[in-house]
Amino acid sequence: MAMQQLAEGWRVAGECIAFVPTMGALHDGHAHLLREARRQGSRLVLSLFVNPTQFGPTEDYACYPRTLTADQVMAEACGVDAIFMPQADTIYPETYRTFVTVDRLTDHLCGPFRPHHFRGVATIVCKLFQIVQPHRAYFGEKDFQQLQIIRRMVADLMIPIEIVGIPTVRETDGLALSSRNRYLSAAQRAQARAIPRALFAAQAMATADDPPEAIVAQVRATLASAQITQIDYISVVDPETLAPVTTLDRPARLCVAVQIGPARLIDNVPLG
Ligand code: PAF
Repeated sequence: MAMQQLAEGWRVAGECIAFVPTMGALHDGHAHLLREARRQGSRLVLSLFVNPTQFGPTEDYACYPRTLTADQVMAEACGVDAIFMPQADTIYPETYRTFVTVDRLTDHLCGPFRPHHFRGVATIVCKLFQIVQPHRAYFGEKDFQQLQIIRRMVADLMIPIEIVGIPTVRETDGLALSSRNRYLSAAQRAQARAIPRALFAAQAMATADDPPEAIVAQVRATLASAQITQIDYISVVDPETLAPVTTLDRPARLCVAVQIGPARLIDNVPLG
């Protein structure tokens, strides 16, 4: 495959390959990953691939935003050396049978709500790593569970790639940047502001030694006050195992997933 040959040539020439895997529909959060990757690598690869295996049958694979021209403009502005944009049937030919599953970490948070999602993510990321052969790969902390699952996969399979997590980039009102924000109407976008408001208030509560139970109750009430009622979870978890915690005697992560109109939004913040 041409991308694999390009990467092999770079490696032989002693280049350091930095890699940002994406599904396209790039926004400033991606630009942030790309700029950090550009700074840390001598060659920068961006992948654009809407990965079918990480979408459930009723999810938004078909209508996931595809904005190739704008993505190419951003890639160029961020100094990308190569864009890898495979066809689905190249990645998953009819004979394809191999999948990567990461146990336990997928039992929590989005796992029960999106069966097979993380199997699809782990599989595509593992494949992309074989093709692009990066030294470092960059992922946003907004998808915290994804980031931790990829870290676990890389450690367990002894894949010699450094995984770099980049803090979430937010709009001025605090909403985490996401390709799915574009599904929101103006009214839904206004409702969504309650998510960061609740999370930032939770951080203040954690600093004041409030327990996870009170923090979760506050988040639920703040979301309810914005008529956000479709809540998949509000959970304070151990950042390594992603299992719920009942005390804050060690650093934890507050994670939420809600549905607002057509958009399923996730967000998280560190506590402690
Ligand atoms: O975070 C994403 O955009 C996707 O889940 C990823 C990591 C590119 C895999 O398809």
